[in-house]
Amino acid sequence: MSDTHQFQANNVAPSILAADFTRLGAQVAEVMDAGARVIHVDVMDGHFVPPITFGPNIVAALADQVHSAGGVLDVHLMIERPERHVEDFVKAGADGITVHVEATQHLHYTLDVIRQGGASAGAAICPATAVSVLADVAAAGVLDLALCMSVNPGWGNQSLIPHSFAKLQVLRAAMPAGIAVEVDGGVNEQSARTVAESGANLLVAGSAVFGAADPAAAFAAVTVAAWPT
Ligand code: DX5
Ligand code: ZN
Repeated sequence: MSDTHQFQANNVAPSILAADFTRLGAQVAEVMDAGARVIHVDVMDGHFVPPITFGPNIVAALADQVHSAGGVLDVHLMIERPERHVEDFVKAGADGITVHVEATQHLHYTLDVIRQGGASAGAAICPATAVSVLADVAAAGVLDLALCMSVNPGWGNQSLIPHSFAKLQVLRAAMPAGIAVEVDGGVNEQSARTVAESGANLLVAGSAVFGAADPAAAFAAVTVAAWPT
């Protein structure tokens, strides 16, 4: 059984979008050896966002490695009609599945299906989407994780939109205790402290970790910047 408590804890989640795919397993091992316990997987369909990345096969390829090291797979679906694909990602070994509220007309249903599959249910909002969209599903008790995009989804290595800090504060205040608040996009050593102080407990970092010469050291640097000991 995977430790889905990792989503609620303070964690930097390296995004494999920025990893060297020719040595994906080795890159994941590097950051997990450095303490990473949440591995973020960005799935893009060429419709909801222009790029196409990968599907459940990559989740399945990493599942045993990540689980046996005590970690969880945090799958971020940037795809239309995500409800059609939840089952495949659960079967592949996803521990958390986050869907975009803009990509489905059936958010409550989709979150419920994710939960029934045994995974943590997440909902993401783009920069132009109001926090209030998440309040109803949170109150209905079907939400485990709220993801605030701090860039427009689709690409790594963008600059964080500064309004995200204020938005995170509103989001954290709107979410009942026990719901994880995740931020995704432009998180690095410079922005980590402010997003954490603004209410995010789960910080996705792609290029800041895998774009660095030493991903293990970069993971540690972003983590200590967010939560100085
Ligand atoms: C963007 C993705 C992000 C991306 C973040 O659409 O959802 O997870 O990997 O990349 P960085 O950390 O480089 O902004
Ligand atoms: Zn993401």
